[in-house]
Amino acid sequence: MTTPRPLVAGNWKMNGLVAALDELGALDAGLKASDPAPVCDVMICPPATLLAQAARRVKGPGSSILIGAQNCHREVSGAYTGDVSAEMLAEAGARAVIVGHSERRDKATYAETDEQVMEKAQACWRGGLSAIICIGETESQRRGGEALAVVSGQLLGSLPEGAKAENTVIAYEPVWAIGSGLTPTVDDVAEVHDLIRKLLVERMGNAGKRVRILYGGSVKPANARELMGVSNVNGALVGGASLKAADFLGIIAAYA
Ligand code: PGA
Repeated sequence: MTTPRPLVAGNWKMNGLVAALDELGALDAGLKASDPAPVCDVMICPPATLLAQAARRVKGPGSSILIGAQNCHREVSGAYTGDVSAEMLAEAGARAVIVGHSERRDKATYAETDEQVMEKAQACWRGGLSAIICIGETESQRRGGEALAVVSGQLLGSLPEGAKAENTVIAYEPVWAIGSGLTPTVDDVAEVHDLIRKLLVERMGNAGKRVRILYGGSVKPANARELMGVSNVNGALVGGASLKAADFLGIIAAYA
């Protein structure tokens, strides 16, 4: 069986004080009450300040929610004021880290390069965590017909050698679809996801068939089923609609 088990991951970004953990509790309760249980893994990536509390909150019997982080530093420790290492995130209860999100690759903010993203992915593995490596074209790149070239370049430039299906997830997130309410057509999503799969198999052999490729960018309960049904889409990376348990459960229902 090569079809990977889907993953629906929520990226809370810089949102959430302690009170937001009530949504995590509601999500947990909602999942436990789902009958039949959805056939996918579920992850929430809260801000780093909530990680340890979130991990404790979902530790109880029957809870299946995984906790992830949104970024890490490449080093284990050192003089890097304000940064957090993969080892620290793992100790706090994270199982995965989102690396190379477009909000961190953005030239106007953190301007992370493929090389830096690759180093972060290696740091995740060193810390015993999975890396959720994000790639995706901007609006002008799509309009200029460069989407496939950009996605290929980012994938091959950010994916370290030695990737395994167990420690690597790819998230295709067209920058123009993030937080905009816009989504690509299903044909466009299929074209990109099929290309990513082909490149993963070329790089990793058969293991490349088992790497999960998530779609991200304005995934909502109303469009989740259609997007999750696309060829080589093995789940979703969800921003805004992961903040409320009811919305996120509506997305996860695509796998019920
Ligand atoms: P969105 O964000 O679901 O709010 O569009 C997706 C993301 O940035 O991962």
